[in-house]
Amino acid sequence: MEIRVLPLSEEQKKTKYTDESQLGFGKLFTDRMLVAEWRAGQGWIDARIEPYAPFLLDPACMVFHYAQEIFEGLKAYCWEDGSIALFRPEMNARRFNRSATRMCMPEVPEELFLDGIDRLVSLEREWIPSSPGTSLYIRPTMIAVEPMLGVKPSDHFYFYVILSPVGAYYAAGFKPVNILVEDKYVRAVPGGTGEVKTGANYAASLKAGLEAKTKGYDQVLWLDGVERRFIEEVGAMNMFFAYGDKIITAPLGGTILPGITRQSVLLLALELGYMMEERQIDVDELMADIRTGKVTEAFGSGTAAVITPVGKLCYKDECIQIGEGGVGTITQKLYDTLTGIQTGKLTDSFGWVRKVA
Ligand code: PLP
Ligand code: COI
Repeated sequence: MEIRVLPLSEEQKKTKYTDESQLGFGKLFTDRMLVAEWRAGQGWIDARIEPYAPFLLDPACMVFHYAQEIFEGLKAYCWEDGSIALFRPEMNARRFNRSATRMCMPEVPEELFLDGIDRLVSLEREWIPSSPGTSLYIRPTMIAVEPMLGVKPSDHFYFYVILSPVGAYYAAGFKPVNILVEDKYVRAVPGGTGEVKTGANYAASLKAGLEAKTKGYDQVLWLDGVERRFIEEVGAMNMFFAYGDKIITAPLGGTILPGITRQSVLLLALELGYMMEERQIDVDELMADIRTGKVTEAFGSGTAAVITPVGKLCYKDECIQIGEGGVGTITQKLYDTLTGIQTGKLTDSFGWVRKVA
């Protein structure tokens, strides 16, 4: 599919950031975006890269009322030799289309998704930060834009991609976070939308997140929505617990997001000589194992969160430090290996990196 590139005038160019250490996460956006439209009976039309600008949308658009929306998150890294690399973008393309199917939205041709990102990132290369821990966060999104108040799938969609130069997701950087196991609210139930990346999942999680923040925690860890007994995932990351050389994580049972970082960690950890197990994790057992020191480390994984160490886990009225409460050896090793591959400092023996032309 042809992607037109519209001109960007000098006035449309934004002032670039000057201090990479102040980027934060998702606050700044680059000069251009990719947009394509889908209409019933026509399919995908009019793919173009155009100056970044607000959309003019009818207040009746279905996305505003019934949240028919999906998104993805991936990153581009600037390597020391000046080249640019994406990390496993094909996985994001596939997950995006699984989300689309679940939300009754049209699939985006993989070629449009991947080539569109390639060309957009290439045009915006001067926006990619290069200091350690920074990257260009890529946010592919699809929204329902038919103006209509009946509850049914929209017949008109926008697919768009915006880019944001970012630093660490958590303000403290690569430091242990404190996590509250959520026992009041639930995120997902079997048969629901927990395993896809749709905005409504995140809207529904805000209340729990806010209550946890006011109590001084960084994030909540969700339990399964039926028994409220098994560990699922954190707001923006999958969770891992190390028992010495063995690392466990919750299985993909339809209610947690199949994280691309999660899947990469499973493979990397095996290569590094650790034992990996995907199994249901009972929260009471987990707390007991942290208390007795059997759990030696805990960390989360995600595109935005990368590998984030967890210092303390709190459940009901008990808050327990994990291991020494700092960054554990395995956590550090996985962080170094993963970011080493992403930034070209380590060999990519898995073929995960895709260079941008
Ligand atoms: N779980 C949730 C709910 C997320 O939003 C994310 C972030 O995308 C993840 C897990 C981690 O997924 P990934 O590693 O693909 O970024
Ligand atoms: C990502 O890690 O890409 C995410 O989508 C997390 C986001 C909710 C900040």
